[in-house]
This record gives sequence, C-alpha cells and structure tokens, in this order.
Amino acid sequence: MAKFHIDGGHTLSGTVTPSGNKNEALPALMACLLTDEPITYKRMPKIGDVVTTCDVLADLGVSVKWNSDDSLTLCAKGINYKKPDPQLCSKIRASILLLGPMLARFGKVELSLPGGDVIGARRIDTHWEGIEALGGSLKLTSSIVGEIKTIQGTDVYLDEPSVTGTENLLLLAVKCKGTAILHNAASEPHVVGLCNLLNAMGAKISGIGSNRLVIEGVQTLKGANHTIGPDFMEVGSFLCLGAIAGGHVTIKDTRPADLGFVLKTLARLGINPELKGNDLTIDGSKPLSMKKDIGGRIGTIYSGPWPAYPTDLMSVAIVAATQSKGTMIFFEKMFEGRMFFTDKLMQMGGNIVLCDPHRIVVSGPAKLYPARLNSPDVRAGMSLIMAALIAEGTSVIDNIYQVERGYFDIEKKLRGLGAKIRREE
Ligand code: EPU
Repeated sequence: MAKFHIDGGHTLSGTVTPSGNKNEALPALMACLLTDEPITYKRMPKIGDVVTTCDVLADLGVSVKWNSDDSLTLCAKGINYKKPDPQLCSKIRASILLLGPMLARFGKVELSLPGGDVIGARRIDTHWEGIEALGGSLKLTSSIVGEIKTIQGTDVYLDEPSVTGTENLLLLAVKCKGTAILHNAASEPHVVGLCNLLNAMGAKISGIGSNRLVIEGVQTLKGANHTIGPDFMEVGSFLCLGAIAGGHVTIKDTRPADLGFVLKTLARLGINPELKGNDLTIDGSKPLSMKKDIGGRIGTIYSGPWPAYPTDLMSVAIVAATQSKGTMIFFEKMFEGRMFFTDKLMQMGGNIVLCDPHRIVVSGPAKLYPARLNSPDVRAGMSLIMAALIAEGTSVIDNIYQVERGYFDIEKKLRGLGAKIRREE
C-alpha cells in the first residue's frame, strides 16, 4: 500500500487553491442518471472516490469523458437497467446515492450495501423512510432491493438531516407527481450545489439552503453545465495546518459564505485568518491560544449538521488544538467512531484524554514527535499528515489511499508549501 514519508518540522508558506468539494461532486455525478443529455462538470476533483463513482457509472453504461484534469462530461443516453457492480459499490459510501436516481430512472434497483469510512454506525433509515414516503418499497436482503411505480409528491419528514439521505430523496423527488416537501433536510453547501445542478437540469426546487426543500415534480430533465464549489473541508484543513506550521499560508478562491461557522469555531483555538476578497491568509508564526468560556471555564467545540461546525473538520481542529495554549473539550456529536484516531496523536506526544467515543479533552501546546502511523479514514488521515508535518524528524503514514480518496493532489499541494513529503508506492 502507498505511504507518505514526511520529514517534519519545516516552516510551511505559500499559496494553495482548494479543489472541488468531494461531497458535492459525488451526488452531482449520480444526477447524470436522470437525463439522456450530457452533463459537464468543472472543478471536478479527480480523487479516488470520484474515480470509483465514475467506474460505477461507466459499468452502468454511462459514457465518461475527462475533458481536462478537472472537467468531466457524463452522458447516460439510452442506458438500460443493470445491477450496479457490487465490488465497486463496496469501495465507497457514495454508492448509496444510486438508490434515488436508479429508482427515478428505472423504477427499480438492486444495490449492495455501501462501503466507505468506518467512523460509526452510518444508519440509512433516513434514506429508507423517505423513499417509502415517496411511494417506493424497499427490502433488505444481502443487498437493498427497491421498486417504485409512481413517485408521489408528499410531505417527507426526515428523521435526521442526513446529507446523503437528503440528496437521495432530491434525486428521486425531482421527478415526482405533484409536489414533495422535504422537512428537516440537510442544508450543507454540497446539498445546495446539488439543488443548483438539478435546477439547471430543469428541476423545480425551492427553499434551497434551508431545511425545508419544496420540489415540484417534472417529467423530463435535460443536460447542464455545473461547477463544483471549492472544498471547504480542504480550506479548513489548510487553515489549521497553516496556523501551526510557522509561516504564511494563503488559501485562494475560497467561498467565504461557506465558512462562517468554520471561522467562528477555529477562532476559539486562536486561528484568525485575514480575509481579502475570496482569499484567506493565516500567519502561522503567531502563537495560538484557546478561548475559555465566560467565567473562565473550559470551552467546548462540537460538531453538528449545517450550519454548525462540520464533523469532517473535527480531526484537523484537534491537531491544531494540540499546538494551542489552553484546554478545550471536543464533542463529536455525529459519529461514534471518529475520535479513536486520537490515540495516534497521543502516541506522537499530544496531550489528549479520550473521555468516551464522542468526547476528548485537549491541552496544549505539546511537542509532537515523529511516528509510523496508519491512516484510518480520510479526515483522520489528513490530520495525521498535519501532525507529522510539524513533528521534527521522519514520520511514515501508511494507507494514504484513504486520504487520496478525499483530497486531490495533496502531496503536490503540500510540497508547494515547502513540505518535505515523499510518496512511496
Ligand atoms: N447525525 C446526527 N444528528 C443529525 C444528523 C446526523 O447524529 O442531526 C448522525 C447520523 O446518525 C450519522 C452521522 O451523523 O451517524 C452522519 O449522518 P449523515 O447521514 O448526514 O452522513 P452521510 O450522509 O452518510 C455525509 C458525508 C460525510 C459527512 C456526513 C456528515 C458524503 C458522501 N458523505 O455522510 O463525509 O461526514 O455527511 O456531514 O457526503 C467525509 O467526507 O469525510 C465524510 C465522511
């Protein structure tokens, strides 16, 4: 398996531009199944999960053409029903996003259970109940077997604002009879991006960006051009890295509207970048200190559905916290397996107490030491890379396929900032 050798402890400075948002790209690719006409995507990150999703679609008969490194055209003209390839589907969590569009296009689907990061239970009840509310019937055997005769416009109450749950329901409900209303919908920027693409294809979705999405069903959808939004997970990751790596790091072409809560939360660790237009610059030579709650109590950073602080940015904030003066509780409310990677940071010298699967206490600053580590999931993997970059000496991060599933050209981007990082196959 590929690994990174990192010679840490060097100042990082320079400019980096985020690629497209993985979690917008994946449902946007699936949307091609809703039309016979081509869809052209720009700022498409050619990461592992995108390539696998394209392989799944190609196997279904979709024509996949990369126009350049970050532009892609998909066309699902005239495809016939085929069961999605179980082996490919088992590689990615996003394969669950075939449920909605396959049912919308063919009225039936048989889908093996999705793969992806092992970071918690990852229930699919929201998808399931929503599809049933729209008129579908689903059975769980060794795979999910579903059918739908008429996609009924109706009120759908999501039991939690699940991101892929909302996206699956959108990818089905756009073709409903009448009007569907998704209550308690997810509203992350990637959900907004998918709604915008679907509307460009001729769908009639309103309430975009809120937790109440109103979808007037249409018969036919057409082709479109769509630009994926800049990945705010990447922006948050480079901000946290820049803040602890000693130099000046500028992150270009961000979308500041996506970053409100992220910046407010990172400020509690002492991370206060300067915003000029759409570019953020962080001065990593300034010592960080953590903000206490009023009255001097230890503060808490917690994750939650949008617009709260994203769970996907918890691990990078935890690494930054190890370098900030003070103490902070991190409360991961969403996934029950996402905090376990912190044992690796402890191994490197991080002053962290794992209280339970959801909560840790971090005290800083602590000197980090190099180590040989295994990357457990995409976000934890990125945070281990960050830790290795500031730990003086040579670290080895195994299983970097996990990181490359979600971060495009990460080695090149880090080298551009002066990182001494080498990939070994
Ligand atoms: N959850 C709550 N409360 C809520 C909503 C969700 O506790 O109000 C819990 C769920 O029970 C579940 C977890 O949070 O255990 C995540 O739920 P969700 O269904 O929203 O996750 P998902 O749709 O499977 C997507 C992203 C994840 C990201 C989550 C949360 C894609 C392909 N995946 O997963 O991305 O962590 O939303 O924002 O969009 C990643 O990129 O590293 C990643 C894992």
